[in-house]
This record gives sequence, structure tokens and C-alpha cells, in this order.
Amino acid sequence: MTACRGMLRRPHFKLGTFATNCSGGMSVTKVPERWSANWADNLRLARMLDDAGIDFMLPIARWIGYGGETDFHGRVLETMTWAAGLLASTRNITVFATIHTTANHPVVIAKQIATIDEISGGRAGLNIVAGWNEPEYRALGLTLPDDHESRYGYAQEWFDIIQALWTRDAPFDWDGANFKLHGVYGLPHPVDSRPPIINAAGSVQGRDFAVRNADFLFTPAIDLARSVEEVKALKDKAADVGRSVDVLTFSHVVCRPTEQEAKDYVARFMGDQIDTGAVDNLMNLQFAHAHSFPHDLLALIRDRMAMGHGGFPLIGTPEQVADGLTALHEAGFGGTTLSFVNYAEEFPYFRDEVLPILEARGLRLPVEKD
Ligand SMILES: Cc1cc2nc3c(=O)[nH]c(=O)nc-3n(C[C@H](O)[C@H](O)[C@H](O)COP(=O)(O)O)c2cc1C
Repeated sequence: MTACRGMLRRPHFKLGTFATNCSGGMSVTKVPERWSANWADNLRLARMLDDAGIDFMLPIARWIGYGGETDFHGRVLETMTWAAGLLASTRNITVFATIHTTANHPVVIAKQIATIDEISGGRAGLNIVAGWNEPEYRALGLTLPDDHESRYGYAQEWFDIIQALWTRDAPFDWDGANFKLHGVYGLPHPVDSRPPIINAAGSVQGRDFAVRNADFLFTPAIDLARSVEEVKALKDKAADVGRSVDVLTFSHVVCRPTEQEAKDYVARFMGDQIDTGAVDNLMNLQFAHAHSFPHDLLALIRDRMAMGHGGFPLIGTPEQVADGLTALHEAGFGGTTLSFVNYAEEFPYFRDEVLPILEARGLRLPVEKD
């Protein structure tokens, strides 16, 4: 059987969505049209993305929200079951489950991913999160280790077990620092090759883990001149361990017929519509060291945090949005996720106006017709 691996199959600049399973998506705004993350909208969106040839959907695994007036990310569809539902309802797109290592047993996850891979004919993916959000760990009654060595040491053993289950047929024992398993095996295996693996670490230890294990490494694009260096360094680091990784980023889109209309919409959902309590919580948790940043950069990050969870801004006409995506491509990124204030309402305009420009520029291949 030839696996239909939407994401791995097509050698072009990859596009996906991020966080559609979470209330608010990537925008920390109070406007009424903000993303509710209900199932009906996710399903409607997934079918549109699939038909348009979008490569993947990436969810965020979140157990408690960020508070504020909207409790940003307070209503979240669980990612494995969300992916199963979407994969059963689509044809070509890859759908990831995002999994916190500490909160999920590897034998269960290996089988769940293999199961949704079989449901979908080989379109499942796994985003591995080794943990960072301390209040969330407390909410689950878990202890987040202070040091990254412990977090990623645990993640490595966790993923080694998954790989063993995906490749070995006979029962085996496992005697590791964190897991003692007896006579375990995992059938079915994934449909074809290993499902695509994402990791989005920022630390040295996390990036070592990512280049050793992942196919796609996510990193924010805040300053593209720096991104050029960063992407090259990550690819070199992977080459040093005999691997090749693609570096992806995440972007937030406001695309309108004129630049002024796009700016007007940014003004509408930002400004006094920002959920400041939630942004503050997000900033405090994610950028604990941001106080050492120059003030202008801190302000830039705060705005971007509110607008698209720190994503690269793609704001303007279809041509301008395509230029931004081209700039990401030229910086060395292999692709990006997209977010919109309301994904299902705004994606059709992007599909109709931006995708043809990307195809004409050779960044993207035209959608395959079944
Ligand atoms: C694209 C992307 C997706 C991520 N998805 C999640 C997620 O769903 N849940 C989560 O708790 N953390 C998520 N993270 C956080 C990272 O997995 C990672 O823990 C964080 O960047 C800290 O890196 P470090 O562990 O190297 O310090 C994501 C980060 C990025 C950039």
C-alpha cells in the first residue's frame, strides 16, 4: 500500500494551521468573532484545508487556560481524539496529536498514533512536548523538573520506547531509568514509515533532542536576519548527528483586499480588545527572561504575543502576505503554520487569493485532484 503522507510527500513550502483546537486560537483578543474552537468549526475548516491542499494541522495540548477575561485557551479539544475525528473526515491532510510526555504513557501513545495512522491511511503525526508550563503541571498533580536534562532525558526514553514499539514485532522487556516494561509489544505498527515527528524546543538540551528525533523543528521567526543564522545552525547540528530536519515557524495572517483594510482589522481586534490579563500571564510564563530584552523588542514581542501568540505577522494584501511567506522561505524555513482570528471565516480569502500567488512563484505545488 502506498501511504498517503500529505505532509512528507510534497516537496514544497509547507503550510498548516496551529491551535484550532484551542479557544482563541492564537489571538488573545476579546472580539466576538474570535475562534471558539468548537468541533463543528474545526471539521468545516479541516475539510476546506484538505480540499485546498494544505499540508497539516497542528493542535496545542493545553490543560488549563491563561485566565484573563476570555480565559484564553480555557476551552480545548483533546488532541488525540480531535486528530482521530479529523483524520476520519479528510483525505490527504496530515493531522498531528500533541502529547506531553510526562502526562501520557508511551505504550498507550504508540498504539493511539498507530491506530489513527491506520484510520487515515498514514496521515497521523506526533508533536512531542517535554513540558514547560509549571502551573499546568501542578494542575495535573505532576512535578515539572527544574532542569532541562531531566525533562529531555525522560522525553528521550519515552520516545525510544515508542520507536521500539513501532519497529519491533516480538514482545520485549524495557529496563530504563523511568520505565520498567515486561513482555510489551505494539501492533499495529504505523502504516508505512515512521509518522512525522515535530518538536518545538528552544533550549540547548531541547534542540539536541529535536535534531536527534524530530523531522520538523519549530522555532519563532521574530527577526528574519537572525532566523537565517538559526535555521542554518539547526540544520548543521542535525547534519552533525547524521540527520536532516526541516525548520518550520508559525505565522498570523490578516489578509484583506487593501493594506488599509488589513490594518483596520488589526486595530479592531487589538488595542482595547486585547485580553491584557491573559497576555500578561502568557508573557510571564513564556518569557520569564524577557526583562533582559531591549525595551523595543519586548514591546514588539508583547504585541505579537497578543496578535498571534508570537507568530510572524503576515498582514496586508494577498501580494504582501505572499511576500511575507516568500521572505520566510528565503530565510530557510521549510514552511509555516497559519493562524487567523477566525480561521474558518478568513481562510477562504487566503485560499483564493494567496495560494495562487505562491504557486505562480513556485513556492507551492498546485493541489492534486483525486
Ligand atoms: C509550534 C510550537 C508548538 C508547541 N506546542 C505546544 C503544546 O501544544 N503544548 C505545550 O505545552 N507546549 C507547546 N510548545 C512548547 C514547546 O514544546 C517547548 O516546551 C517550549 O518551546 C520550551 O522549550 P524548552 O523545553 O526547550 O525550554 C510548542 C511550541 C511551539 C513553538
